[in-house]
Amino acid sequence: MSNEMYSFIGGSTGPWKIVSINSVTGKAMEPIDRLEIVNEFITSSKAETKWVLHGTTSNLRYTTRQEKEQLDAKSPPLGRKGDTCAALIPIKKSKAWWELAQDERRTIFEAQSEHIKIGLKYLPAIARRLHHSHDLVGEPFDFLTWFEYSPAHSDEFEELVSILRKSPEWKYVDREVDIRLVLDKPSIDPNQPIKVNIKSL
Ligand code: HEM
Repeated sequence: MSNEMYSFIGGSTGPWKIVSINSVTGKAMEPIDRLEIVNEFITSSKAETKWVLHGTTSNLRYTTRQEKEQLDAKSPPLGRKGDTCAALIPIKKSKAWWELAQDERRTIFEAQSEHIKIGLKYLPAIARRLHHSHDLVGEPFDFLTWFEYSPAHSDEFEELVSILRKSPEWKYVDREVDIRLVLDKPSIDPNQPIKVNIKSL
């Protein structure tokens, strides 16, 4: 897995329309109407931008070879036709979590919480990408978790989120905001110039 930078731009533009923004734990986030995701680091200067969150894809920390093979075999790509629902769930873990040793974190994450074992049951219904922010200076969250699914699988997603939130891993979550979105691409992108065929004029 290569490290790629993503910016999540919250404001009034972008193909994802906000359905709800709920603070699960800790400080809320400023409400927005739309979200745009770009595969680069940007800090928007547009007046309508309320916030920008950054995160990078990264190498696996806790996944064993066997789990990786199971995940690779079942994980769908993002951007599937019909996956018109999405969730952006930024998460910050506590100082106590980051002070643990790697083996202690893996024990809580999988032996006690079964994060991967549970998550696997929801593939390929749910498509996902994990972004790390912990090592980026000035970011308010440690992780930006992104999920896409079809309306037919939205109950399953609710079930998954509720199971994970009851797990021992979540005792280490200091801040969590749950943002739900629907894909709502305008038929004409207002930011693109309209192409006119001069010969036809
Ligand atoms: C769709 C099913 C899911 C699967 C298959 C899944 C799988 C995984 C895997 C394999 C990792 C570990 C990556 C590594 O080895 O470093 C991970 C990490 C993580 N997942 Fe999930 N996950 C799922 C759903 C969720 C949901 C719904 C949430 C949030 C509500 C979530 C939040 C996280 C977070 C915050 C991490 C980072 C943990 C850390 O490094 O401390 N996951 N997930």
